Amino acid sequence: MTTTVRTRVAIIGAGPAGLLLSHLLADAGIESIVLDQRSREEIESTIRAGILEQGTVEILESTGASERVRTAGSRHDGIELRFAGEGHRIDFDALVGRSVWLYPQHEVLKDLIAARLAAGQDLRFGVTAERVEDTASDRPRVIATDAAGAPLVIEADFVVGADGSRSVAREAVTGSSTGGHFREYPFAWFGILCEAPPSAAELIYSNSPDGFALVSQRSATVQRMYFQCDPATDPSAFSEAELWDALQRRVPGTRLNEGPIFQRDVLRFRSFVAHQLLNGRVALVGDAAHTVPPTGAKGMNLAVADVLILERALRALLLDRDDRLLADFPETALRRIWKAQHFSWWMTSMLHAAPDASDFDRLRQLGELRSVVESEAGSTYLAEAYTGWPLDATR
Ligand code: PHB
Repeated sequence: MTTTVRTRVAIIGAGPAGLLLSHLLADAGIESIVLDQRSREEIESTIRAGILEQGTVEILESTGASERVRTAGSRHDGIELRFAGEGHRIDFDALVGRSVWLYPQHEVLKDLIAARLAAGQDLRFGVTAERVEDTASDRPRVIATDAAGAPLVIEADFVVGADGSRSVAREAVTGSSTGGHFREYPFAWFGILCEAPPSAAELIYSNSPDGFALVSQRSATVQRMYFQCDPATDPSAFSEAELWDALQRRVPGTRLNEGPIFQRDVLRFRSFVAHQLLNGRVALVGDAAHTVPPTGAKGMNLAVADVLILERALRALLLDRDDRLLADFPETALRRIWKAQHFSWWMTSMLHAAPDASDFDRLRQLGELRSVVESEAGSTYLAEAYTGWPLDATR
């Protein structure tokens, strides 16, 4: 027997985008249902990136979505770019008066889930959305299967696909599950988590003749590090000693603190922007709308920016019956999305060694890095983009 439930906004996906959207809508008195195929435990334990723009932190804090971000997260006022054996600090605070916060995405999710449940949000885990129907009507519907395997239909005034890079809502918006502009990269990241204190106070983005490495951290006792690898790499193919050797060779000049490696993964990445973000009464936000390579640390931040734009449009639509902001949503969101796409592509191409790079390419890349670190204008672009463009401009 099919159960049909009715709500104002049906949100597919309990990631940062879907949960923050439900939080902001509730504040405006708009009821929603959030569905996710995964269990709460899975959502809260999946390791993702950890850099939050200053604007993201301000939104999480000012809306009560996360009270811990500023106390449990750590402020970073700069990063180091390392190449040709030397480190160069990009001082965000001095250049643009802004900072970023290192606060892992799963911690943001724990805070958001706790806040939503405490507020009585209808939040359903283990529910698989199959498709979205009646997109063009004012009663679009999500066809789903509930946690017990029974058919479930959610009828709403509006449906939001916040369901990640393998979005099922995308088809209802773009006409195909893959439709979009995209670019593949001939490399991936080998990521590790290890028990050892941070090797440096700030993140190190290193370009070396052996390829890229990123030295990041999670806490006073855990480090997160990545090095460039072939996308076909088997994560279990390396011994711990080989992993340390691979990392250390790519960060010459800094002695990495070693410790037991307790997690390893290979992250394939690409750049993607869906051909359309809105169709009738269905919109896409976050990774369902776009993906960026992780080098610019933009993924979750871009999802937050999308949500702020869409939430304002939904308030106008559902409270004032004014659909003008909704009509503008794709263009407004895409302006920031393409800037972030460019920044993520640029950081990626500037720091990685392409497998087919010629001597010209490698020497040009060093010239590009010098143009950034030896010029205040060059470093200011990086600082401005990394810490995040003002969110007001997106509204
Ligand atoms: C991470 O800590 O996981 C991280 C930090 C910065 C990035 C990507 C990942 O650009």
